[in-house]
Amino acid sequence: MFNRKDLLGLRDLTKEEIMTILNTAKEMKLQIDNPELRNNSLSKTSIVTLFFENSTRTKMSFMLAGEYQGAIVKDLGVATSSVSKGESLIDTGINLDQMGTNIMIIRHQMTGAPHILAKNVNASVINAGDGSNEHPTQALLDLFTILEHKGKFEGLKVVILGDIAHSRVARSNAFGLTKLGAKVTLAGPSTLVSNSMASLGVTVSTDIKEAIKDADVVMGLRIQFERQKNMPFPNLREYSNLFGVNSEILKNAKKDVLVMHPGPVNRGVELSTDVIDGENSVINVQVKNGVAVRMAILKLLSENNRRA
Ligand code: CP
Repeated sequence: MFNRKDLLGLRDLTKEEIMTILNTAKEMKLQIDNPELRNNSLSKTSIVTLFFENSTRTKMSFMLAGEYQGAIVKDLGVATSSVSKGESLIDTGINLDQMGTNIMIIRHQMTGAPHILAKNVNASVINAGDGSNEHPTQALLDLFTILEHKGKFEGLKVVILGDIAHSRVARSNAFGLTKLGAKVTLAGPSTLVSNSMASLGVTVSTDIKEAIKDADVVMGLRIQFERQKNMPFPNLREYSNLFGVNSEILKNAKKDVLVMHPGPVNRGVELSTDVIDGENSVINVQVKNGVAVRMAILKLLSENNRRA
């Protein structure tokens, strides 16, 4: 069951709503490699992407997810739009709404920007990442990948490592994974993970080796230099020596541990290259699953949208 107008975060989604998206994505995944299975079920749906921050995976996979289902998909191209002349987010949204847009997909540097847009337009709004708040579709594709490989969430130990403080991916995953019964550890240097995050229902650690012990899933996160005011550690080499995951440290996890990363990866910083390309890595699988999950979200929202 998924009856919402918008997808703004995992904080508010129920376990049942999350499972509806994941189950729909399972059907959608078959269509990625097999165009014969695709249909034009979204041919009456128009989708506009508004990316105020850069993206490779999220933007492209949303655009392809729409086109694989026959939707009309357009990118606003924020830098060349009238946003550069000072037009507000709300006015931009109202104008796109008047053009008949059914679904707006927004990434913005400001926490809450998708929520503001959603209140002011008839179109369904999807949060493609807002500041350090949430990145719900990334977490949903991560959940899908974990379920695909482990067959369950209950009791799994999932360790998320790195720049937790600035990570919307960590927050959305913490909301989703804890709802589904996984045990989540957020780990990193004390400048990038704070004890207050335990309020999310997770364990907080600054000891990487201890955190990884017996992990079922290890998810590395990029250091988000673009969101740092001050350098949170002396230099990158020191960070990777103390907090990076290499094949030696990974031996502390379970033998069948899944290695994940939302991308883009800083090779040799949060994860060593042999771990990124190793047999436990599902980083490339996550990218394919991102298309399946986004196809499912577009389908479900399109069914709910009052215009579609
Ligand atoms: N994982 C992720 O959001 O990647 P992009 O920034 O390339 O979209």
